[in-house]
Amino acid sequence: MRILLTGGCGFIGSAFVRLALSRGHEVVNLDKLTYAGNPANVAEVAGHDGYRFVHADIADAERVAEALDGVELVVNMAAETHVDRSILDPAAFPMTDVVGTAVLLGEARKAGVRRFVQVSTDEVYGSVPHGAFRETDPLDPSSPYSASKAGGDLQVLACHRTYGMDVVVTRGSNTYGPRQYPEKLIPLFVTNALEGLPLPVYGDGMQIRDWIHVDDHCEGVLHAAEHGVAGEVYNVGGGNELPNLDITHAILGLTGRDASLIRHVEDRPGHDRRYALDTAKLRSLGWEPRRDFTEGLRETVEWYTANRAWWEPIKSGEYLAYYREQYGARVGA
Ligand code: NAD
Ligand code: TYD
Repeated sequence: MRILLTGGCGFIGSAFVRLALSRGHEVVNLDKLTYAGNPANVAEVAGHDGYRFVHADIADAERVAEALDGVELVVNMAAETHVDRSILDPAAFPMTDVVGTAVLLGEARKAGVRRFVQVSTDEVYGSVPHGAFRETDPLDPSSPYSASKAGGDLQVLACHRTYGMDVVVTRGSNTYGPRQYPEKLIPLFVTNALEGLPLPVYGDGMQIRDWIHVDDHCEGVLHAAEHGVAGEVYNVGGGNELPNLDITHAILGLTGRDASLIRHVEDRPGHDRRYALDTAKLRSLGWEPRRDFTEGLRETVEWYTANRAWWEPIKSGEYLAYYREQYGARVGA
């Protein structure tokens, strides 16, 4: 089928492009190319017969309508995605994650696409001290990022109720793997460790995230798109619950560095203590995560070690301005 994927030049989006093409689908990748969008992420498929790139904003109704020509499935991954940036400067987040989603949804409905898949996050549920979130749990987002994603989810689910539109929402857990912009925990700490720079651990570092490999996340989204029930939400989690400090020590070991690089710095405001997902619903449809975390992290560190040409140019210009604002006072960077 022909898929309109938004945000396909980002971390998860570019992995989804490769997966969908490998399964014989056609992919129209619509991406605004924000700081996080990188054409190099899809360079290897640029000449593929089934692939087309559209440089546009999901909030631009006219361009979106053109891109929807002949499309059966929309997968909306485009978003402003980083919690710390949303705390420093929230305005861009609802513009893309809520308004952009609503515009894309409206155009998809007009175009009569068969299904709209909204790629969301476990962060919309907030923090869970014990147990694991199920899809029926209430939304209780803590950050401007997660509040914006929750707003997007609600737009999508409301379209199902109001118009009977065929929609599916996936809520993925913290994702890791190659080509992740070096602002999130794992790629930031791996690239800093490779450069011998400090690793800024927020607070006590005992916050827990449930990690999933990017390939398992993409398989989960495609599985929900192909087998999910209209109007339903599906959690997509890896089942690898780990405190940030454990990951930090694993990265130090894999990069041949020692704990002297660790800096316990001022905590993130509103920091969620623990995320965990119950994934029984999507598993009942036949999906399961396959990647072992220890092996996946080792491969990820190897990828960043072998691909300095991918991340070194990123760590300049706008990135350094952001880094100074976010970490300057924390680590004296
Ligand atoms: P990313 O930041 O790496 O990439 C986002 C992409 O969206 C970029 O290519 C960017 O250019 C594009 N984009 C941003 N605003 C746009 C707009 N207005 N119009 C068109 N394109 C736009 O993000 P990611 O980590 O790959 O996340 C992809 C999706 O998965 C997001 O919706 C995110 O909320 C969700 N998600 C991410 C994680 C994670 O751990 N990274 C976990 C769960 C869910
Ligand atoms: P992050 O990768 O930003 O993902 P999210 O906030 O969406 O879960 O952060 C993952 C965890 O790592 C989170 O508990 C915050 C922590 N963290 C640090 O301790 N230091 C950092 O510099 C970053 C970016 C994150």
